[in-house]
Amino acid sequence: MTVVNQINDLRKKLNDYNYRYYVLDEPTVTDAEYDGLFQALQNLEAENPELITSDSPTQRIGSKPLAGFAEVSHTVPMLSLNNAFDEMALKAFIDRIKDRLKSSEPIEFVCEPKLDGLAVSLRYENGIFVQGSTRGDGYVGEDITSNLRTIKTIPLQLRGENIPDILEVRGEVYLPLAGFAVLNDYARAHNEKTFVNPRNAAAGSLRQLDPTITAKRPLAIYCYGIGELQGGSIGSSHWEMLQHLKQWGLRVNELIEKGFNIEACWNYYEAMKVRRDKLSYEIDGVVFKVNSLALQETLGFISRAPRFAIAQKFPAQEQMTTLLSVDFQVGRTGAITPVARLEPVFVGGATVSNATLHNMDEVQRKDIHVGDTVIIRRAGDVIPEVVGVVLDRRPHNAGLIHLPTKCPVCDSEIVRLESEAVARCIGGLFCPAQRKEAIKHFASRKAMNIEGLGDKLIEQLVDENIIQHVSDLYQLDFSILANLDRMGEKSAGNIIDAIEKSKSTTLSKFLYALGIREVGESTANILANYFGALDTIITASEESLLQVQDVGPIVAKNIKAFFHEPHNQTMITSLKEQGIHWKNIDVQERIALPLAGKVFVLTGSLTQLTREDATEKLQALGAKVGSSVSKNTDYVVAGESAGSKLKKAEELDIPVKDEDWLVELFINNN
Ligand code: IVH
Repeated sequence: MTVVNQINDLRKKLNDYNYRYYVLDEPTVTDAEYDGLFQALQNLEAENPELITSDSPTQRIGSKPLAGFAEVSHTVPMLSLNNAFDEMALKAFIDRIKDRLKSSEPIEFVCEPKLDGLAVSLRYENGIFVQGSTRGDGYVGEDITSNLRTIKTIPLQLRGENIPDILEVRGEVYLPLAGFAVLNDYARAHNEKTFVNPRNAAAGSLRQLDPTITAKRPLAIYCYGIGELQGGSIGSSHWEMLQHLKQWGLRVNELIEKGFNIEACWNYYEAMKVRRDKLSYEIDGVVFKVNSLALQETLGFISRAPRFAIAQKFPAQEQMTTLLSVDFQVGRTGAITPVARLEPVFVGGATVSNATLHNMDEVQRKDIHVGDTVIIRRAGDVIPEVVGVVLDRRPHNAGLIHLPTKCPVCDSEIVRLESEAVARCIGGLFCPAQRKEAIKHFASRKAMNIEGLGDKLIEQLVDENIIQHVSDLYQLDFSILANLDRMGEKSAGNIIDAIEKSKSTTLSKFLYALGIREVGESTANILANYFGALDTIITASEESLLQVQDVGPIVAKNIKAFFHEPHNQTMITSLKEQGIHWKNIDVQERIALPLAGKVFVLTGSLTQLTREDATEKLQALGAKVGSSVSKNTDYVVAGESAGSKLKKAEELDIPVKDEDWLVELFINNN
């Protein structure tokens, strides 16, 4: 084979693998194989530099930093969309279309997620990616070709048949949530400013003058339209156009659907609103587009937006409001969390008047002052947080935020260890706040699961000195409970029953309920299975604790320190005396369980059982359920909308199973 043929062959293979991996999400080779071919191509190109072409897979990152971005005129303008915020506005949009078309025929729409990123235009000449630009003002944007070349989901060369001479593809570049988290974790670890949201992070990444920085940001694209088209055809509908884009190797969102009239559009909107929180990227609404290109043309544009499309927006997840004051809350382990008290604001579908500020490092990094206009974010069921400050609006009398020196609840000292981001009240169980939190944790679903004993009731019981410690729960008197405000005999009876029921538990739940620092549900379960009995854990040396998977030096120290503490010993004795019991685990018997030693990771959403149920069932069969995929994972069970963990499993060649497989496994081992 000639060198030219060898090079072409390698490029074809690599482009193919890239396409399968990044666009179709169906990898066909291992990383090592890919890297080997890539290296071979790089070597050949180094020996024959005259054969390097801009669409070679080796040329994604190569450019030197730019001095600035050149301007690009859009021959077909990049317009924006009108917004609708309710069903009325959607109806008005469709009625306007019918009026204009003087038709009462059903109208077919394409329904698409509205991605929250940045619009870009990709220009392909004879199938080769030659230029990429931002939207700018819609008519003139910036040339960001070098940065866009680093995005692996953007093909440098189109594939398939009948590729137009000139094709401008329009799409949205975005940062997946997992990439956003990694970027902000890195920023936090290096004491740098965090990005407010994935959109800003994507924008910042695309506007880097140094493409090597962009290359490190895991950006991606979904394509949803075209601009200039010459010497080719894309069919007669928007839907057909999207199919063409797909066939040419461009990434098109898999949640796009077709449907007629308002019913289909509204159902799509409602369905996507529910799905939104489970997606691995952010969307801020959906877009409805008239499917027929002929009708699109008849409808045309009004000022800067098409008449044939509309963006149906979701309630915003970010809003600005004023930071009125900051309080300090004390957690179960004494951790002091600054909490922002806000001018109430409607965000993410609810009125928010409190938001977490995490810790003092975050307050400083984000430069937050009392009186500031702050950006609040409430996404899904995540606790609302202050993500940033609008510095331009800072009043001259804005106040600095200071960490108190004394616990606001028990007046004990507050200390902050050099190595920790959080400050803590040293009051321990002397501090009512810590006691309340310890009891809440003890009673919670994954711990002793005392149904009906909610947070408010626990606070009331501690405030009124009816209980002080978890062991007092088992002495609770029916008549005292029944006489409490907002409590009747029925509820009191239910709670007494639930407390009684909780006495029969498992070692792992009891261990978790104790609230040992850094011993979460999974570690508690591993410890229980490893040692089999509480006394063995209590007397285990630090060295033997360290033998347990997932237990590092800090956790081992925490466990030792916890059981060494006399009041914890008294508490455990008292709980056992009051009838709390579990079955010790026969470690030998465990080894014989069908899934003994197997490590599972669950990802995506399951539909036939909850993730907790699945975890419990797997554990009962002897398996360990991990939270991240590594080479030690034996199986990944991927539900709907599985994201980065699924990708990781595929990268590591770990068997991926679906929910039906899991359910069958449970049935077979019942
Ligand atoms: S179509 C002429 N489709 O939303 C119509 N835009 O508010 C051009 N966007 O600038 C846009 N997802 O950045 C379209 N599926 C989608 C979209 C989408 C996100 C963005 C795009 C546009 C903005 C308009």
